[in-house]
Amino acid sequence: MSHRPWEDGADFAIGLAPIDEARWLEGGEADPALLGVTSFGDLPPLYAAARTVADDLVLVEKTGDHWRVSAISLSAPTFFTAREVLGRSLADIHGPVNGFNDRFLARLVRIFDGLRPGLILQRRNWSVVNSDQPFTPFPAPVRARIGEIAPGDVGRALFTRVERQTVRRLPETGGVLFTIRVWLTPFQALAERPGQLAAFARAWRSAAPGFAAYKGFHLYAELVEAFLRAHGESHSVNGA
Ligand code: HEM
Repeated sequence: MSHRPWEDGADFAIGLAPIDEARWLEGGEADPALLGVTSFGDLPPLYAAARTVADDLVLVEKTGDHWRVSAISLSAPTFFTAREVLGRSLADIHGPVNGFNDRFLARLVRIFDGLRPGLILQRRNWSVVNSDQPFTPFPAPVRARIGEIAPGDVGRALFTRVERQTVRRLPETGGVLFTIRVWLTPFQALAERPGQLAAFARAWRSAAPGFAAYKGFHLYAELVEAFLRAHGESHSVNGA
């Protein structure tokens, strides 16, 4: 498991950091021949590009004072739909995220405004879900199945869901390309490396209240605690 963003904390954060171009996208790209696509000439440009990479692609362009989503190819949504974000501003999109606009919006807009062509920024977020499906536009059907999970099955039924995101300026149009790649890892894999499980346990138990509430951690609390204890991560009230 190469991405373990909980090791950097369990609260909302912008967390954008520069990466080399060689590390822009992480591979696993679809082979156009397998998809039966021999020419991209007739496809809209974002759609054509999306057929060649595993990442979801979001074009964000500035109109007036606002950065808005102007095109999107979305196959691994984490609880949102293309319809909900298309045409909407960064402020509108992040309205439902507790405290986002007060804490981060102005900084995010400055980053979009000032992004130099050639600079690529990466961030990662994480949550816990009971689904191995990349395509999860709606939380309700996923969460409705939490009650079916037996404590002994948590290793196979719960997953860390990491989104690795990048942003870079498109030099000709000035737009910003936002990419999203989802990585799902069963809890069982965490338990195979005790140091990693301990780090996860620390993050899980110290999650900021707004972050935990937004991500629905309370829905998984009993199952995750049972799993952590069964794998030797006994709970400590003082966080030591
Ligand atoms: C690099 C710029 C961006 C930053 C720093 C950022 C940051 C965040 C943060 C902190 C959250 C809360 C969940 C989390 O990630 O921990 C979030 C949620 C979200 N962001 Fe962004 N965001 C960015 C760009 C975008 C763009 C361009 C879109 C357009 C599709 C978008 C769509 C969303 C959605 C739909 C959610 C809610 C997802 C959910 O319900 O869990 N974000 N964003």
